[in-house]
Amino acid sequence: MQEKLEKNKQEALDALDKIEDQDALDRWQSQYLGRNSVVMEAFKSLGTLSKEERPLVGKAANQVKVALESASREKETQLEEQRITESLASERIDVTLPGRRTVSGNIHPTNRTLREIYRIFGDMGFRIYRSREVETDLVNFQMLNFPPHHPARDMQDTFFIKSEGDRADNPLMLRTHTSPGQIHAMQEHTSKYPDDPPPIRIILPGMCYRYEQITSRSEVQFNQVEGLAVGKSITFQDLKGTLSNFARRMFGQSAKTRFRASHFPFTEPSAEMDVGCFLCGGKGCSVCKGAGWLEILGCGMVHPTVLINGGFDPEVYSGFAFGMGPERITMMRHHIEDIRYFWANDLRFLEQF
Ligand code: PHE
Repeated sequence: MQEKLEKNKQEALDALDKIEDQDALDRWQSQYLGRNSVVMEAFKSLGTLSKEERPLVGKAANQVKVALESASREKETQLEEQRITESLASERIDVTLPGRRTVSGNIHPTNRTLREIYRIFGDMGFRIYRSREVETDLVNFQMLNFPPHHPARDMQDTFFIKSEGDRADNPLMLRTHTSPGQIHAMQEHTSKYPDDPPPIRIILPGMCYRYEQITSRSEVQFNQVEGLAVGKSITFQDLKGTLSNFARRMFGQSAKTRFRASHFPFTEPSAEMDVGCFLCGGKGCSVCKGAGWLEILGCGMVHPTVLINGGFDPEVYSGFAFGMGPERITMMRHHIEDIRYFWANDLRFLEQF
């Protein structure tokens, strides 16, 4: 019996040597240490042996069992180490592999210009006032002192919103400019402070709509930034100072400005401000069409009728207003030839900013 055990032990150890994976090791364990293994048979047979033989066989079987178990544990450790080495090799991260580019969004060129405008006027103490895009004829035109037959009221220029018959004399429309916001802001202010209202200093940005032929120079929708200052001793000097300062901060400290007389129904006197062409420095180029100057905005002193419509007494209060087109400014700054790019959602255009 001892001999059989010894032979079995040698056979088991030889077999164990050749084992290379966990499955084979499991099979080996059940063959050499399991229920029907030679060692276990030896233990089971102890009861049938003689008194002299029993301790000898028992001791021998035990030694074989201990030897096989420890060899098996060693093999198990060895297999585990081998698995770790293999997975480290196969799952190695190659840090020299170029990364994937993440696609990041861009701020729309109009919004860039808008943010700059907000910052500049914000520094000068102007707050942002947001007004509605759907307006009434009353506020968009009548209260801004447009005479009844002014050409801008023509169907050609305005998107009217179909409204029920009783609005015939005051139809709804998409605002054609941001100026009606002046009326809302002033009325809100003077009803909040009925006696002795404090000064107003606001800019009113937003989308405007005109029923026009779409060309490279005009779109049916565009942004405007309106400005409004009302107070007790506001003069045309304040208007010029504020807007020249704005131009220098927007277009560079050396930017020259000039004011030309113009006409708007809601301002008197009215003007347009030009800045010296920042591309050619005034010599004349394709952007300024040889003129050396670029028209930037319309402006003027708030018309007394408009002040009254806003709840101010024009004998005591005065104000200035201006309106500019951020798309136009963006086009001039970046030499963009076609306004339609702003709404075309063409990434080849948008990604350049
Ligand atoms: N609302 C005018 C326009 O659309 C611009 C403007 C605003 C002019 C305020 C004067 C004062 O052209």
